[in-house]
Formats: sequence, C-alpha cells, structure tokens
Amino acid sequence: MTSRRAGPLTGEAHVPGDKSISHRSLILGAMTVGETKVTGLLEGQDVLDTAKAMRAFGAQIEKIGETWHVHGVGVGGFLEPENVIDCGNSGTSVRLIMGTMATSPIVATFTGDASLNKRPMARVTDPLTLFGARAYGRSSGRLPMTIVGAKEPMPVRYATPVPSAQVKSAVLLAGLNAPGETVVIERESTRDHTERMLAGFGASISTEDTKEGRVITLQGRPEFVPQDIVVPRDPSSAAFPVCAALIVEGSDVLVPNIGLNPTRAGLFFALQEMGANLTFENMREAGGEPVADLRAKFSPDMKGIEVPAERAATMIDEYPVLSVVAAFAQGKTHMPGVKELRVKESDRIDAMARGLRAAGVQVDEGEDWWTVHGRGFGDVAGGATVETFLDHRIAMSFLVMGLATNAPMSVDDGQPIATSFPIFEGLMADLGAHVERT
Ligand code: S3P
Repeated sequence: MTSRRAGPLTGEAHVPGDKSISHRSLILGAMTVGETKVTGLLEGQDVLDTAKAMRAFGAQIEKIGETWHVHGVGVGGFLEPENVIDCGNSGTSVRLIMGTMATSPIVATFTGDASLNKRPMARVTDPLTLFGARAYGRSSGRLPMTIVGAKEPMPVRYATPVPSAQVKSAVLLAGLNAPGETVVIERESTRDHTERMLAGFGASISTEDTKEGRVITLQGRPEFVPQDIVVPRDPSSAAFPVCAALIVEGSDVLVPNIGLNPTRAGLFFALQEMGANLTFENMREAGGEPVADLRAKFSPDMKGIEVPAERAATMIDEYPVLSVVAAFAQGKTHMPGVKELRVKESDRIDAMARGLRAAGVQVDEGEDWWTVHGRGFGDVAGGATVETFLDHRIAMSFLVMGLATNAPMSVDDGQPIATSFPIFEGLMADLGAHVERT
C-alpha cells in the first residue's frame, strides 16, 4: 500500500470498537451461563480469532443484526477443544485464553502466525504453573504450546515482572476458577479493562494502590451475571486519524466517542505537550469509562518532548505513530522505558527506526529507549518502501507518515491492518487521504 500527500483531511472519523474490550467481552461472556449481548464489537481478525476459540471451548457466539450474542458455559465449564487453537496474529487472544482455561481440567494446544509464534509466552505460563497448570512446548517458550489445565487449582499471589495487561489478565482469568483469593501486584499500572469488566459481570474484585504497586484482589468461583455490553471506540485506532490530521496541512478532523480511560490515553497528553492542536470536546461518562470527542487540527509548530517513562504503559501501542508525529516536530523526542516495544507483533523500535531512517529521519536507539530527531513540518523526505513485519500498527503508522512526506511512502504488506482496523483504508479515504493499494 502507498500513501501520498493530498489536500487537507476533514470530516468525522468513526473508528471501530476497542480491541481490548472486545476480546474481554467475548471471553467473559463465554464464562457466563445465559446470554451476554455485545454491540460495537471490533470485527477485526484478532477478535474474530477470540470468538472462534471461545466456540472451540464450548460457547455459542453469533451475530444477529448489529448485536453479538454470546451463550457461555459458566466459570469452570469449558469443554476440551477438538483441535489446535489458532490465535493468528493476536497476543491478547492467546494469553488471555491460556489463562482462562488453565484452571479447568482440560488440555488445549495453541498456535499462531509467524509473528505470534516468535513472541514470549513464559511470562504467562510461569504464573499459570503456580495455579497447578502445566505448559509443554518449544524450549524457547514460544508457541506452539500445550497447556494442561490444573485439576485442583490453587489460588495465587503474583507480582508481574513486566508491565503487561495481558499477563495480569491471564492470572486474573485463571483465578476465576481457583477457590479463594487470587492477587496480582503490578508495579506499573496497565490497562484495567479486565478488572472493570470482571466487576461488571459480578465478580468480587478490588484494587488498592500501595507502596508495592497496584494490588488487585479477586475472589474465585464467582457466579457471573450475563451483561449487555456497549464497546467504546478504540483510542489506539483513533490515534491514526488524529495523528494524520496533525501533520497534514489545513486538516480539521473530529474523532467522536473515544474512550479516555487513563490507562489508555497517554498518547493524547503527549501530543498536547508537543503543542498539537488537539482538544477533547463533549467530555462525558459512558459505561463507567470517560469518553470524549477528539478534535485534531493541523499543527505545524509542534516541538519534540521527553515522554515520561512512567507513562509508557498508558500508550504502549501508540509509540509507532507518535514517532511519526515526532519526525514532523522541531527537535528531539526521547522515549525511554519502552523495552516492551521489542516484543510486540514486531520489534517496534527496530521496525520504526528502519522505516524512519529510510525516509530521511535520524533515529537513535538502545534496548529500552529511542530518540527521533524531528525535521519540522515540510522537511521529511519520505520516498521509502518499508517492511511491516506482520504488524498492523507499523503498516498504519507509515501510511499516515506518507500523507505528509515530500515523496510517497509504501508498506510491503497492508494485510495485517485487518487485525485491528479493517476499515482503515476507507475511513482515511473519506477524510480525503490518498492511501491506495499498489
Ligand atoms: C493488550 C495489552 C497490551 C497491548 C495489546 C493489548 C490487552 O499488551 O500492547 O495490544 O488487551 O491486554 P501487553 O499486555 O503485552 O503490554
């Protein structure tokens, strides 16, 4: 796919449902006897892979009109799947589902695509073995992997060694079918959608901020009550039209109804600190989450910033597109404390650094930091074809970049965009962007 400079971007960008919340609504619905109804579900490939997996464990899931209907099997009621569970590109699917089945007396084998099969799984299987589950697979701790669920699970107290909502969620979901109290302690707060949704389904769960970090306590074996869930729109998808509007001359784009959960909204604050013309309109509450309409306008005078390391978890998926905006700002943008970027769908520091350099932007990097040397508006060459390494956010970031570089930008593979943002191409075209298949 190729993107090139065009006129201003204008209009409204209705981005799809939140990926994290979509996965969790299907998984918790699958653990609930009765009918859970979900609207606004992200119909990206990652979430469809979660739906397929939940069916393999015994849930009934179907879409009628605009609503997804989930008939679950109850906590501890999962059936043993008859085949390998293929989670495609989706780390959230495999890690959360491994947790969910690890405390049931069943066996399941998981695999994924070339990207997912390179990602670390020991971070999840280590705590799951504490519940009594066993994990068998490659010596590297990568997929394919078989989990033998615990027959008599024990509750666990676990401090997560990496800031990861997927690890935290896997432990909490495993804790659902263990008797007594499961406790997760996280030093850095990560997205809290699992905790919020567990409470919504009727679990007894509490969160306390202590000197050790955030302590989350869950009582096992709850009786879940089916829910009607309205999935808010995804701030991580909103990031793309927002950042595009900031760097394309004359733009003025409204991105309505975006969840501004503080554990997710770090990018927008970073952009404001850079001097972006980005405002939150019509601030309100919806389904227990803060929500606003985002208005982004062309911002030719942005400055590079130091992004606080402690904010990393709240914007971890947004660093690729932030680095694109940073290229169009004046001065350096330094991004420390981001080791986790190296184990996402791709090594995102490496993938972005390669493409940015090929487009004429200087990037310095270390194991857990990187710095983009901004060239200012109008002075970013572009003209490169970039490898996306099966990573949707790398593909979309460079397509946003090409809307403002002097020469077009191309990505070798636009296919992964469908994992999280299947309507990206049409939505950007409706705003006036030139993004095309080449
Ligand atoms: C997610 C957590 C994050 C994020 C991913 C979605 C989730 O991963 O990068 O896109 O839904 O829990 P980590 O938990 O590995 O940080």
